[in-house]
Amino acid sequence: MTNEIIRLTQTVKGAGCAAKLAPGALDKALCGLDLPVDANLLVGLAQADDAGVYKVSDDIALVQTLDFFPPMVDDPYSFGQIAAANALSDIYAMGGIPKTAMNIVAFPSKTLDISILRTIIEGGLSKMREAGVVLVGGHTVEDSELKYGLSVTGYIHPDRILTKKNLQTGDRLILTKPVGTGIISTAIKAGLAGQALTDRVILAMSTLNREAALTMEAFQVHACTDITGFGFLGHLAEMVVDSGRGVRITSANIPMYHEALEWAAMGLIPAGAYNNKNFRGSFIDFGADVTQRVQDLLFDPQTSGGLLIAVAAAEADRLVYALKAKGIDCAAIVGEVVDEPVERIIVE
Ligand code: CO
Ligand code: CO
Ligand code: CO
Repeated sequence: MTNEIIRLTQTVKGAGCAAKLAPGALDKALCGLDLPVDANLLVGLAQADDAGVYKVSDDIALVQTLDFFPPMVDDPYSFGQIAAANALSDIYAMGGIPKTAMNIVAFPSKTLDISILRTIIEGGLSKMREAGVVLVGGHTVEDSELKYGLSVTGYIHPDRILTKKNLQTGDRLILTKPVGTGIISTAIKAGLAGQALTDRVILAMSTLNREAALTMEAFQVHACTDITGFGFLGHLAEMVVDSGRGVRITSANIPMYHEALEWAAMGLIPAGAYNNKNFRGSFIDFGADVTQRVQDLLFDPQTSGGLLIAVAAAEADRLVYALKAKGIDCAAIVGEVVDEPVERIIVE
């Protein structure tokens, strides 16, 4: 192996950021399959959600999730931190407490030095430690493309599960991290993003949603999800479908990276954003004042994005205040659940 510094994002052939299957593709693969039935399965594949939940006793249910992807940043330690924070996030989005994790690794040992894998896992471990999670094992395969992530198991009280469903009319929607990391990851891969911005976005993506989840526990939260590959509007659409309600979004209140807005205006938009728009665009009405670049940012696939929390209207301001007091500075009320139009998202 040479001593030259390897840019991890350059080892990825496809789209850098969490390149998942196009939305809807997995549904086609699973549609009609005979899935095992179990009365203790409280949240399963039948209802798309952040994690599966299985009841063990009247007081305890297991929350299980798995996420892994190719590097979206060049620094191996940061990549490990981001991948772990992203995988842990689905437990927090359900209102759960993560307990154990397993590594999932695909590694090109012929082209990358094994010390890089060690550094990635070290980064992941730092986030597990912060989350109070123990690493119990894992699995590594040889692959032409590097991928890393975690399978995470957590606990939750069976009566306190926060799914994507259960929006109540009048609920306020609170977002806890800025959007635009997909566009910025694309810029990083293209060598366009400066170091200061790269550092800022790495810090945001590697920040656990733990504080946000612990903070919301004390409030009347009706539903929650985390913003990842389907983008802000894609994940919001999952909350709105079959809710019997609609949502009104104030785009000016959504925390965004202004650099991402500039790159979006130049057309530097990851393919996933177009997939997200094609899949969910028909649910959404944009006001005349919402510019194209803002629309693009709202479909931008996020890596390790923030929580999107639906909270009772009377408690919304207090929850934002509590989140800010925990250092979640950009937390903001970005929208409201309305009776009509049913199952539509109005972005103003
Ligand atoms: Co999720
Ligand atoms: Co996930
Ligand atoms: Co949830």
